[in-house]
Amino acid sequence: MRAGGAPFVVTVASEKGGVGKTTIATNLAVYLKALREDLPVTIASFDNHFSVDAMFAIGGRGGHPVSSLLGSDVAARVTLGEYGVGFFASERRLIAPNDDTASLRAALEVSRLGGVLILDTRPILDYFTRSALVAADLVLAPVKDRASLVNVAALQRALRDEGGDEAALWLLPSLVDGRLRLAEGVGVQEFLEFAARERGYQIAPTALAKSPKVEGLALGSARRVFPVLTHARGTQVHRQLRDLAEFVLQRFDAQPPPGRRRSWAQASGGPGRVRRRRLAAGCPLCGEMPAEGTGWFCEDTARRRQSLVHTDCLASLVGGAEPSLSDPGTALLVLEKPEPGWHEGMSVALFGYDASGRPAEGLAQANLSSAHAWDLLRALTGRLPEELPATRVFLAPGGTDARDCPAAGGYGRFAALRRKVLRPWRHDDQRATSREDGE
Ligand SMILES: Nc1ncnc2c1ncn2[C@@H]1O[C@H](COP(=O)(O)OP(=O)(O)OP(=O)(O)O)[C@@H](O)[C@H]1O
Ligand SMILES: [Mg+2]
Repeated sequence: MRAGGAPFVVTVASEKGGVGKTTIATNLAVYLKALREDLPVTIASFDNHFSVDAMFAIGGRGGHPVSSLLGSDVAARVTLGEYGVGFFASERRLIAPNDDTASLRAALEVSRLGGVLILDTRPILDYFTRSALVAADLVLAPVKDRASLVNVAALQRALRDEGGDEAALWLLPSLVDGRLRLAEGVGVQEFLEFAARERGYQIAPTALAKSPKVEGLALGSARRVFPVLTHARGTQVHRQLRDLAEFVLQRFDAQPPPGRRRSWAQASGGPGRVRRRRLAAGCPLCGEMPAEGTGWFCEDTARRRQSLVHTDCLASLVGGAEPSLSDPGTALLVLEKPEPGWHEGMSVALFGYDASGRPAEGLAQANLSSAHAWDLLRALTGRLPEELPATRVFLAPGGTDARDCPAAGGYGRFAALRRKVLRPWRHDDQRATSREDGE
């Protein structure tokens, strides 16, 4: 059991409204508890619909508000609710406390919440949804039709841009009408599964059917909403929710226990910003640990991997750009793999930025040879480039000590600079991005 450490965070998200997010989040909490009684299960919603309260608040009594998740002493603010599920009370108006979407993850990392935390989100990619994505160990994206499936690309992009774990994203067919046939007699679920695979998405091994009985649970005038487990056991959805809970428990069990997960702070012994990512034991290019105060701090957003790379090792692969690696004006390097998969001649480039996010004088852009790019991506991400999606790796000059790595300012500064340099890219593709991000 994972009591007392960082919780395993399950975020239910979709920019599309009415795809079943809240129904899935609330019922999942009940089924997890039913399957594993001793597992602490907590739920919170960043939406203002009060559905969590309607299912879990005992006798209508509220609890600490959901914004407490971003504060200190998170575990002490959980209110024990119906079915043994802990909850945070929903809030009508949530105000973002800052613009750092890693704050939630940092707060949860040091919380002693343990178990599983389920986060229900609003159908927009606002600060809270983005924070819930960054914090997630598992993202469930309900899809009920083509539009919601296409929109998953926006979730994926948000995960990538904000430094979440893209590999945590799973599609979950929801509100599937088994009777409906599309062209050529194809069922909705088959269509969704096919379209999801075609796009390279992982798809949960269960789907949720559309059921009038389940729909009826949220209707009516009653202030309470009842779970499928107690009030719709005769439905197909009952079995499907149990399968979903089993799937979530499998993912939960597959995670290394908190003691073996090395957060950034633990790895480096410093207080500062806390990250759940792993810091590799040595330079991923040569295996030796860089000496104090030297080397480059490297983070692969897609795989949550952190490492410290020797300047010399990096220079051997970056080639002609070598002098500017020692240029004190270079504050951030971005290695950009522009396409999924791998082919000979793919143009992988390294971009350099100064501390204010402007292209660095010494190294604005270096194009890597195909062989060097392959080696670098392989080492820095720990995966075969053939298997990687389009991705970026961020490097900042730093040392082996938490307090100066990444150099001056620690992780917060690194994350802020990364966000800053990502913005121009977003603007490049402004129309598509603004449509998909809902900004
Ligand atoms: N399996 C189901 N069968 C029938 N109706 C369902 C099912 N799941 C959810 N619903 C109904 O569909 C509607 C939308 O569900 P829900 O509120 O869970 O979606 P949501 O994605 O959270 O919506 P929003 O984006 O507005 O928060 C609700 O009326 C709910 O009762
Ligand atoms: Mg909802």
